[in-house]
Amino acid sequence: MKFFVDTADIIEIKDLAATGLLDGVTTNPSIIAKSGRQFLDVIAEICSIVAGSVSAEVAATDYATMIKEAKKLATIAKNVTVKVPLTPAGLKVCKEMRSMGTTVNVTLCFSPAQAILAAKAGATYVSPFVGRLDDIGHDGMELIADIMNIYRQYPLFDTEVLVASVRHPNHIIQAARMGADVVTCPPKTLWQLFDHPLTDKGLKAFTEDWAKTGQTIL
Ligand code: E4P
Repeated sequence: MKFFVDTADIIEIKDLAATGLLDGVTTNPSIIAKSGRQFLDVIAEICSIVAGSVSAEVAATDYATMIKEAKKLATIAKNVTVKVPLTPAGLKVCKEMRSMGTTVNVTLCFSPAQAILAAKAGATYVSPFVGRLDDIGHDGMELIADIMNIYRQYPLFDTEVLVASVRHPNHIIQAARMGADVVTCPPKTLWQLFDHPLTDKGLKAFTEDWAKTGQTIL
């Protein structure tokens, strides 16, 4: 399972990259607005920190403008993944960018039908939003199970399921049980994966007992 972080915060990205466990970064227009930075600059900086996929989303909704934006975003760095919405125009852009060798993340997926369309358009990643479905009383993880099951029936589909809108570690654990390819989540949620009170308690006891020996390893 690949771990992507859903942020444009450079300090958070550097901290997570230092763990050696970070495979990529996703952004969206809301995240860019929150960063207060120039979109193209911040994407270029993230691409210089993380070797893996960095999703940069188009802003337009019409095909003609979207394809121009997609082509421009793709020139920022080799590891830019162009992110497009799951609309007819977005999928048209997806197909065209894929034919030029650019990776594409199809975002705002909320149904199995939409996930089938993304795979048919040759998306590198499809991003089903689990948290936003939970928020309206649906079961976001059910959608992931459904998509995984459908994609398994078609070995020629090579679209990776990128579980998005993750709210807590349990979403990640459930996604892993289903064999989802990627999760993207806020930095805090990735850090939470390390946490267990027994790890803290055990480490404290080991450290105290080691101090009693008066020894050093180095
Ligand atoms: C994914 O690519 C999206 O940017 C993100 O996961 C959306 O998450 P949110 O529902 O917490 O805004």
